[in-house]
Amino acid sequence: MTQALRFDGRVAIVTGAGGGLGRAHARLLAARGARVVVNDPGGAVDGTNAGSASGAMGAADKVVAEIRAAGGEAIADTGSVTDPEAVARMVESAMQAWGRIDILINNAGILRDKSFGKMTPDQFDAVIDVHLRGSWLCTQAVWPIMQAQGYGRLLFTTSSSGLYGNFGQANYSAAKMGLVGLMQTLHIEGAKHGIRANALAPAAATRMTEALLPEGAAERLTPESVATGALFLVSEDAPSKAILAAGAGVFAVARVVETPGIALPLDATPEDFAEAWPRIVAQAGAEPLEAAWAQTQKFLSTPQPKG
Ligand code: NAI
Repeated sequence: MTQALRFDGRVAIVTGAGGGLGRAHARLLAARGARVVVNDPGGAVDGTNAGSASGAMGAADKVVAEIRAAGGEAIADTGSVTDPEAVARMVESAMQAWGRIDILINNAGILRDKSFGKMTPDQFDAVIDVHLRGSWLCTQAVWPIMQAQGYGRLLFTTSSSGLYGNFGQANYSAAKMGLVGLMQTLHIEGAKHGIRANALAPAAATRMTEALLPEGAAERLTPESVATGALFLVSEDAPSKAILAAGAGVFAVARVVETPGIALPLDATPEDFAEAWPRIVAQAGAEPLEAAWAQTQKFLSTPQPKG
């Protein structure tokens, strides 16, 4: 039987964990022994009205209360992932409480959907700021701690909208694919420090998707079923550089691959290229490359036909 997946002694930060997927990640981590920082400033799906829960118990506090009621350990943080000082405070409070940070799940997100021609710079910037820049900020804040520990697990929340495109989400899909690039480079830079980086492309019924889902889908698209896969990606035995697609209990892995390609003579014409196109796109033998340089090496090691 597989050994129980436990996180005793581990400390995790989950951003945007006041609801939806982040809440499910935080609760499952805590249930498996992790001490968890539940980050969330609250606010609407578009990111407005954050921090407005004056007096009332905020989203992060509620999740902390749930975790504690179930016997787990958690603290709340209400800072925005877009604010460097707030991020520094969040990391500091985790270090003060527990002395280490093993896991960062970059989950915080907002939507400002608009068809491309109508999208304003503000709508573009706000979405890039929370998803891409926010994940970068949080990761940079924990990076030296993970390096010093020789241990870290990073999870970036991407999306099928980034991987495959989606109408009305140019800002969101750019941010989400940016996170894949960030993850792939941190996989390389983190390897020698025991830091592993992965991405999650979820599908779940949350307030972010509630208006879009067909009837009855919500019962299957539970955030908890996604968290099950996310947990492995931040565990001791996690892979690295994986993009996990997860929803409704279905799990798959997405990969960026390159076709073997063909070599044309250096003096080939655009017409020669057009003629060769079907052979260039042929998928047989397509595979992911280990790092950027592998592509140049592949080019240079492919025999050049004479013109
Ligand atoms: P959600 O709206 O329930 O959760 C997002 C959370 O992020 C909210 O609680 C919100 O308060 C928080 N947040 C927003 N701005 C923040 C900031 N500046 N700092 C810290 N927290 C902030 O939606 P859901 O679905 O749980 O989304 C979680 C992540 O999963 C997002 O990154 C989203 O883009 C991604 N995702 C979700 C999919 C789905 O099917 N639900 C599909 C693909 C990706």
